Amino acid sequence: MNGRIPQSFIDDLVARADIVDVIGRRVTLVKAGSRYKAPCPFHDEKTPSFTVSNQLGFYHCFGCGAHGTVIGFLMNYDNLEFVDAVEALAEMLGLEVPRDAGTPDRRRRDDGGLYRLLAEADRIYRAALKGNRRAVNYLKDRGLVGQTAKRFAIGYAPDSWDTLLRALGTDETRTRQLVEAGLVIRNEEGREYDRFRDRIMFPIRDPRGRVIGFGGRLLGGGEPKYLNSPETPVFHKGRTLYGIYEARQRGPAGSGRPDEILVVEGYLDVASLAQHGIGPAVATLGTATTAEHIRHLARIAPRIIFCFDGDRAGRDAAWKAMETALPQAGGELELKFLLMPEGEDPDSLVRSAGGDAFRSCVRAAAPLSDFMLGELRARADLSSAEGKSRLVALARPLLARLPRGVYRELLFGNVAKTVGASMVALERELETSDSALPAYDTDLVRPERSQPGGTLIRRAISLLLNYPAIGSTLEKAPDLSMVDQPGARLLWRLLDTVAGNPEIAPGVLLERFRDDPEGRHLGRLLDHAPLDTEDAAAEVLEEMLQRIVAEDKKRRLQALLSMSSLSSEERAEIGEIQNYLRNARGNSGGP
Ligand code: UTP
Ligand code: MN
Repeated sequence: MNGRIPQSFIDDLVARADIVDVIGRRVTLVKAGSRYKAPCPFHDEKTPSFTVSNQLGFYHCFGCGAHGTVIGFLMNYDNLEFVDAVEALAEMLGLEVPRDAGTPDRRRRDDGGLYRLLAEADRIYRAALKGNRRAVNYLKDRGLVGQTAKRFAIGYAPDSWDTLLRALGTDETRTRQLVEAGLVIRNEEGREYDRFRDRIMFPIRDPRGRVIGFGGRLLGGGEPKYLNSPETPVFHKGRTLYGIYEARQRGPAGSGRPDEILVVEGYLDVASLAQHGIGPAVATLGTATTAEHIRHLARIAPRIIFCFDGDRAGRDAAWKAMETALPQAGGELELKFLLMPEGEDPDSLVRSAGGDAFRSCVRAAAPLSDFMLGELRARADLSSAEGKSRLVALARPLLARLPRGVYRELLFGNVAKTVGASMVALERELETSDSALPAYDTDLVRPERSQPGGTLIRRAISLLLNYPAIGSTLEKAPDLSMVDQPGARLLWRLLDTVAGNPEIAPGVLLERFRDDPEGRHLGRLLDHAPLDTEDAAAEVLEEMLQRIVAEDKKRRLQALLSMSSLSSEERAEIGEIQNYLRNARGNSGGP
């Protein structure tokens, strides 16, 4: 995606788009001061905490934290990929999306072809199912009714080497695309043949409903039981969930968002649960649950229930899913875990126990905290001091992944209760204590107290995002290029960007950093009118930048002071830093 649409066009698009208008077409907005408000479309609420500001070019929900630019909104609300969102927006504004000449957009040129071929393959497989008694009987034996097969567009790949090859590989280009779509395999001798043969076919769709890949199951025994499409330009397993499109097709449009969504392991689990009126359910595609999966699911429902098999593999998958979900836990999103009894999976359980019994299992699913503690207990023997210490050691990295806040404190408390509080208190002490410092000017060395609202760098970034113009008014921006702190490089680059574009709007600035690994979460730092005036903001920013440099020098000083022996240059550096810090303290007039 990089570089294909010129940045200047995206800047222009975001600056020109009327975000209130775009969102207003999808959500009923009410004017409130300089902004617009509505009940949030991304979570359930009665009092509106979703705001849209034309001035910032940004939307933000104070309830669930959803936020973004007009492009981000289209991506989230309409479930579009970035390029598709840009195209949709350009279309609204009557603009043609230009492409950089030097970098032809291969992905898009090929995409159209791949989607079309996949759709045609889907049609062929479905038609083949109708004509194959053995395949139909297999599905019947597995308890699936015709309606379910239809809803999930289940098909059958005939027992032949060239069904698709003959029907779709009509010319060289299409044959090449069949290979690219993962439907046909070209072996080392250059011979081509259909990947899926004599298998029940489950089409995998993207959120827009386009077929992007398949999972195919053998009708009898044999290996591998399931064969999935490989990664292709349109199919990425870490981003895809089987059943996501079907999950959103429930009931009449606009019937509201589901309270919960189930994550299961298999295609048949998804179909079978749907048939029993349970769910919606989606499945990962033989891969671990990714953070992107969880983000996607959180947009669909406020509660995610991981519902995995009762075997070793299922438990491991649930544990991994928990680890992945931790950074997103603790807010509005509720995460629960349900392990099937040994030897069962959701499909077998719902069929043997019935829908009602299954529903009560779901209701009894363990909250994340219980699941975590239960699994930790299973991994450590609490009757001994060693076991307790092991439990704490296992828990520590998990707790560290949780966002700071009440939830993390509560879980910490749970762990404390489990092993006896004193040990945790000790652990905590170890975690936070600073290494002892030699007795130079300790006042200079003492690290800045952590501040509400995050670190200095974080707050400086936030300020700059809200008021990009102040970045260009700085009298003397201190050199941050040497500061070795998380976010410093990003702040430096933001300063650099706004220096050349004093007029840049916050939304435009954010879009520029969309693909940046450091900058892609910038939106969270846009904190909506943190100060009254731009002048005040400029002054505060200037002071913050100076403090950031000072903090960095303090850290350097601390490092120097803790060395056992010092070279003469290092001694000189200590002197310089101390001078610098004394002066800075004098100038800022602070404590
Ligand atoms: P399971 O082995 O649990 O199968 O694999 P299942 O879903 O219960 O299937 P049935 O009931 O025997 O038909 C769970 C999931 O793991 C992936 C598939 O996505 C499958 O749905 N898998 C499994 C593979 O990708 N390849 C395999 O060989 C097996
Ligand atoms: Mn099964």
